[in-house]
Amino acid sequence: MEQNRIYFFDTTLRDGEQTPGVALQTPEKVEIAKGLVRLGIDVIEAGFPAASPGDFEAVQTIAREVKGATICGLARANEKDVQKVAEALADAERSRLHVFIATSEIHMKYKLKMTREEVLAKVRSILEFAKGKFDEIEFSGEDASRTDLDFLCEVFGVAIAGGATILNVPDTVGYMMPREFADKIRYIREHTPGIDKAIISVHCHDDLGLANANSLAAIEAGARQVECTVNGLGERAGNVGIEEVVMALKTRHDYFGDLQVHIDTKQFTKVSKLVSRLTGVVVPPNKAIIGSNAFAHESGIHQHGMLNNPETYEIMTPESVGAEKTNIVLGKHSGRHAFDDHLKSLGFHTFTEEKINDLFVKFKALADRKKQVYDDDIIALVVDNIHHK
Ligand code: KIV
Ligand code: ZN
Repeated sequence: MEQNRIYFFDTTLRDGEQTPGVALQTPEKVEIAKGLVRLGIDVIEAGFPAASPGDFEAVQTIAREVKGATICGLARANEKDVQKVAEALADAERSRLHVFIATSEIHMKYKLKMTREEVLAKVRSILEFAKGKFDEIEFSGEDASRTDLDFLCEVFGVAIAGGATILNVPDTVGYMMPREFADKIRYIREHTPGIDKAIISVHCHDDLGLANANSLAAIEAGARQVECTVNGLGERAGNVGIEEVVMALKTRHDYFGDLQVHIDTKQFTKVSKLVSRLTGVVVPPNKAIIGSNAFAHESGIHQHGMLNNPETYEIMTPESVGAEKTNIVLGKHSGRHAFDDHLKSLGFHTFTEEKINDLFVKFKALADRKKQVYDDDIIALVVDNIHHK
């Protein structure tokens, strides 16, 4: 593991598939996994093999057919689950077990009905069982962000002693504030026995809309793996979207400093559309990076700025994320400058200033009636005015 590199662990096919209403078939999962490899993802969590025969088949097929990334399977801390992951990943180029158990008081008491000592013993025994079956092991303390920190460090210490080299800190219920989460990551780095043999991973849910802020704060505090999904799919409000974390790191490399990110950002739009088509989950138009409005400008003031210098209102280029181009949307807030420019792009080069002014007045009246004015509307307006003048 390189110290200054941020590793990306994609869980679109596992946590992402836990999005209510989403159920992917094996060939669709393989198609997405291949898209993730093109994106440059380091680890693909292909599923939860013990969950169903379908999940087992999907993980096994991905392990056999998808090369170029580590393939990972999820397991609860029991031998049957771990064995299923081992069988599903037998043909993987590189395999990772992701084993988890809840560590917060509320989960231990009401869900697991286990004491701290029993949880510690379980972590010890399951890692003993998993030893030698995988290329690497990741351990997660479920609901880690609401876990007593000293107990979490103790559990992580046991996991490291048992052979885990990736310690994941899930903010399972999206409860964290960025500075608070960063403080926890620093504490874990300072108080976990053997932590220098492992890397810290974070897994942020978006219940308060803070998944990206929390992931970035954790990176600043020393986390080196980020778990994410395409389009921010996932349980409830979803997981952090990979596109948001990566573009924040890339766009603000002046702020984050010398961090290596091996992701081909030009693939974002393509992989986002693929996942949206196969899952049926539509990306909201105003979603950062991948929404259809992410590079659209409607107001006249913005359009004028954009036409003079795109950096006035765009902090990254549409090309950098594989989007087609900046979209100057004509609507009632558009200015004469953008309108004139648009006429020219439609082939109307020879109008006098007076004619453009006249058309612009008519365009504004039309824009007041319609939410968005399309090219066909403008062509009709021009043709109508040429013939009826
Ligand atoms: O959110 C969560 O805690 C999880 C774990 C299985 C890592 O998805
Ligand atoms: Zn999760």
